[in-house]
Amino acid sequence: CERQDGRPFRQRLLVVANRLPVSAVRRGEDSWSLEISAGGLVTALLGVKEFEARWIGWAGVNVPDEIGQKALTKALAEKRCIPVFLDEEIVHQYYNGYCNNILWPLFHYLGLPQEDRLATTRSFQSQFAAYKKANQMFADVVNMHYEEGDVVWCHDYHLMYLPECLKKHNTNMKVGWFLHTPFPSSEIHRTLPSRSELLRSVLAADLVGFHTYDYARHFVSACTRILGFEGTPEGVEDQGRLTRVAAFPIGIDSERFIRALELPQVKEHIKDLKERFSGRKVMLGVDRLDMIKGIPQKILAFEKFLEENPYWRDKVVLLQIAVPTRTDVPEYQKLTSQVHEIVGRINGRFGSLTAVPIHHLDRSLDFHALCALYAVTDVALVTSLRDGMNLVSYEFVACQDAKKGVLILSEFAGAAQSLGAGAILVNPWNITEVAASISQALNMSAEEREKRHQHNFHHVTSHTAQEWAETFVSELNDTVVEAKLRTSK
Ligand code: ADP
Ligand code: G6P
Repeated sequence: CERQDGRPFRQRLLVVANRLPVSAVRRGEDSWSLEISAGGLVTALLGVKEFEARWIGWAGVNVPDEIGQKALTKALAEKRCIPVFLDEEIVHQYYNGYCNNILWPLFHYLGLPQEDRLATTRSFQSQFAAYKKANQMFADVVNMHYEEGDVVWCHDYHLMYLPECLKKHNTNMKVGWFLHTPFPSSEIHRTLPSRSELLRSVLAADLVGFHTYDYARHFVSACTRILGFEGTPEGVEDQGRLTRVAAFPIGIDSERFIRALELPQVKEHIKDLKERFSGRKVMLGVDRLDMIKGIPQKILAFEKFLEENPYWRDKVVLLQIAVPTRTDVPEYQKLTSQVHEIVGRINGRFGSLTAVPIHHLDRSLDFHALCALYAVTDVALVTSLRDGMNLVSYEFVACQDAKKGVLILSEFAGAAQSLGAGAILVNPWNITEVAASISQALNMSAEEREKRHQHNFHHVTSHTAQEWAETFVSELNDTVVEAKLRTSK
């Protein structure tokens, strides 16, 4: 098998993630259109090009009929994607319930949804059963497509039960698992009723990866404290079997962003934006509309900044682009109305007949529009309450080589460990501190902006998604060889 440039692919890779890189929209009984999915997992994996990869996942839509399933399978095959069909009830219990109402907030230190705590506790068992069932359905599709020698790379909190399902079926399969969220302190993880089962299942993989050393350390502690297994410098050991655990910080395809800035349509966008916001400094937030992103806190900090700095009121604008996500989960619905309410209030308070301080869009932007927006931005605000890595901060830096804008970055994002020296780090819960950092960013000298930008630009362009994937897969290959050597001794 060859790549477009004629060179052979390194290895066949089965990428298994809940979300496919494209989401399907039904246009007729047997016709589908495919739209690119939002999220860091998709962005990073799309930057991986050196493997002959097949992507197995859910297309984000319920397809109950055979005609629809056949047509969608065919449309996805052209993109090297293989669908897992999940019915409405499973999606409700597994995706909306166990994944996004329980694991997601817990792994981001937000606990269980406040008002629903009791209801969540009651529905826990049925949601966990659906989670295991869904994971088995992913495993069945992997088993159908697996060929000897393939590397199977499982992704994220949706699929923690998958490594065990796969290894039960075939102990020789090379299985890696990577978490795109934080792994919380073991004290948080131990509150999960299914804490042990999930850890044991993940440990069935040959290699387990996290964005940062801290997340890996939390995972190893959870295994030692909850399961009583041994933590070693290589990973977790139980009865002579070692599961390798390590940090593999993710990156982006930085070249794609840098090249895009040279395209005529992007230059045109940049020109339009500069004209529209001429005379004003542009501040930017780009997030999925998710409670972990700290969007209400960010907007309140901006309000505080306007309150305390009358000089800046008609000289700065905040563009907040928030793509709706997981809209069937009540907590996300509440967040949408909360954000709209705050934005409306602040625009009413500080706006005029001709201008408002906040432009909030509940939508996704296409790639070119996004690059243009990053390029004209003076200050990017990434104020996640917790975030596995946060690739928006990387994308902003990649598009800023001309402008050298300032990145305000939450100390609770994984990216704080890589871009911390160039960014202004903040505690997003402290709106007074964030407001002060906005002032610092807007008043920063050109020399300091240049110095900070160079640091971050170097990191973003030298730690790419491709390098991340290569390191993970080669470590997985080595781990399996070493394990064989150990058992043959
Ligand atoms: P997460 O994975 O939690 O969504 P990341 O910051 O790591 O957070 O990744 C988000 C990805 O989704 C980025 O590639 C970003 O460009 C994209 N994205 C987020 N919001 C939007 C939006 N409103 N329009 C277009 N793309 C978006
Ligand atoms: C985060 C998760 C991904 C997920 C993405 C978008 O990046 O780590 O696994 O795909 O958010 O969320 P969604 O629920 O739409 O897939």
